[in-house]
Amino acid sequence: MSRALATTTAKASQPVPVGLDPARLPVHVAVIMDGNGRWAKQRNLPRVMGHREGVEALKRTLRLCSDWGIGALTAYAFSTENWSRPGEEVSFLMALFERVLARELQSLEQEQVRIRFLGDLEPLPEGLRRLIADATERTAVNTGIHFNVCTNYGGRAELVRAAQRLARRCVVGELDPAAIDEQQLAAELHTAGECDPDLLIRTSGERRISNFLLWQLAYAEIHITDVLWPDFNQAALLDALLDYQGRQRRFGGVEPC
Ligand code: IPE
Ligand code: IPE
Ligand code: MG
Repeated sequence: MSRALATTTAKASQPVPVGLDPARLPVHVAVIMDGNGRWAKQRNLPRVMGHREGVEALKRTLRLCSDWGIGALTAYAFSTENWSRPGEEVSFLMALFERVLARELQSLEQEQVRIRFLGDLEPLPEGLRRLIADATERTAVNTGIHFNVCTNYGGRAELVRAAQRLARRCVVGELDPAAIDEQQLAAELHTAGECDPDLLIRTSGERRISNFLLWQLAYAEIHITDVLWPDFNQAALLDALLDYQGRQRRFGGVEPC
């Protein structure tokens, strides 16, 4: 997708912090929100308390990105592999998603956030699915930041689904296999219509992708911080953005002279 998003949605409502170049902000930031369990463990709390605090970090990050004119924020909330966690933790997370969405929907609407949930939503609890459908519909025409919450999301599952959808179109004669190109494939991903992330942030020091946005991160700049997700704040986001602005993106080309 073109970078039209930058001009249609990104409008800073607050001045960006000194030192940050407002003209060179990433259009799309993706974040692997990791370290909730360790944050809780450090405080002798149950893991789920880390998830609860993680919601506050996500709200902070969304507000800052929106205020500074970043066009899209895509957050990894629950992976296709996270079902393998203890049942109580999974149930807590599903209930938390539902509670938070119900509570925050009105302010998301007022703040012009366009929310979407990316992933296979079928296996999610019925109540959560209904809320997701409602939130998606009610915010669809909003003109502010694109907020994508990856829920039961896996990069491999997303690519398999895209392959199946393309194959089906070929079988019914709607599409010539020889005509399948990168645009056609990208259009079948959950992220269709969104430009690729410019910056990926992973918290808690882990140096892996964990099945996140495998296609879309092809040329993203990667910032890894030891900060645990519940502690992620303005200073940590600023650090990531400054790191990003210090990079030279070449997309396979050479440094211009
Ligand atoms: C990330 O934090 C949140 C989810 C995966 C839902 P973790 O729960 O993975 O926290 P750690 O990695 O165990 O500290
Ligand atoms: C990635 O974190 C998934 C989310 C943040 C939702 P994990 O904690 O599940 O990843 P691994 O297991 O450390 O790779
Ligand atoms: Mg983790």
